[in-house]
Amino acid sequence: MNNTVQEINRLKEGLGAIILAHNYQPPEVQDVADFVGDSLELSIKAMQIDARFIVFCGVDFMAEQAAVINEGSVILHPDPEAKCPMASMISVEDIRRARERHPKAPVVIYVNSPAVVKAEADYVVTSANAVDVVSNISSDTVLFGPDRHLAEYIAKKTGKIVIPVPEDCYCPVHVKFNPNEIKVLKSIYKDHVFIAHPECPASVRALADFVGSTSQMIKFVKSCPNTRFLVGTEVGIIYRMVKECVGKSFVPASTSAICEDMKKITLEKLLQSLRNKLYRVEVDKEVAIKVRKALKNTFDVLGVESPWSKK
Ligand code: 13P
Ligand code: SF4
Repeated sequence: MNNTVQEINRLKEGLGAIILAHNYQPPEVQDVADFVGDSLELSIKAMQIDARFIVFCGVDFMAEQAAVINEGSVILHPDPEAKCPMASMISVEDIRRARERHPKAPVVIYVNSPAVVKAEADYVVTSANAVDVVSNISSDTVLFGPDRHLAEYIAKKTGKIVIPVPEDCYCPVHVKFNPNEIKVLKSIYKDHVFIAHPECPASVRALADFVGSTSQMIKFVKSCPNTRFLVGTEVGIIYRMVKECVGKSFVPASTSAICEDMKKITLEKLLQSLRNKLYRVEVDKEVAIKVRKALKNTFDVLGVESPWSKK
């Protein structure tokens, strides 16, 4: 074990801290984390953890989400410059304008957005539960932001009208997948199963054998009898797939599908975060109350009890 990892573990124990990491984090960060998962799993973990400190290795909205749902722990984000570019493409004004145009349509907001935007929402979802939530909402029309590709995916799966807010917002990493290149790859890797994230454009998803959140993709490759996979999401996920699926092999469907912001978290920054208690993530109390209300609606519509249900 190298010195940095030893020091991270020593500080972590001394502080009573828990390290959470997203599936796209660099391998060495995943290895030192207490739990690695997708946005939904990490939110649930952050909610359940009873620790003085949670160090969140991921992009800004994920650490902010942890601060909203766990008021008892101090949330640290090792690099506040690790920001999801898609999350910053939506504003509070976008939601308010859309509500004026469609006053009867509930607002469903993707977790990849700032807390102030989620505070305007009726429901907050992740890629793992968006389809379930929208199917269970009584309205046939919903406003959904910010990812228009995920909006299209939800519309296709639920048969509902899903209006994207704003009109053209997308993940710059997942739009790098190109259907023509995938067709070529599929002709080369004939025996590979193609899996894709719902943030991919419809033309790419149409070629996929399985579409799901990052952890749903990991579960799928574990349970699938096939041993070879073409992976249509950020390349960082392949580290976990290789580690947890002995005997199976993975080919990235695009080697340029790299989320630079996810890679801004390094072991050195994690060490400094623990050593100097940096960077503390705080969310305005009123905003946090509104986001938790939208999360409670989400849990309610799914029939799952939330920590706020009894309040
Ligand atoms: P997941 O919730 O599927 O892990 O997705 C998060 C994300 O940022 C995808 O680009
Ligand atoms: Fe945001 Fe896309 Fe990076 Fe996910 S992969 S964090 S949506 S920029």
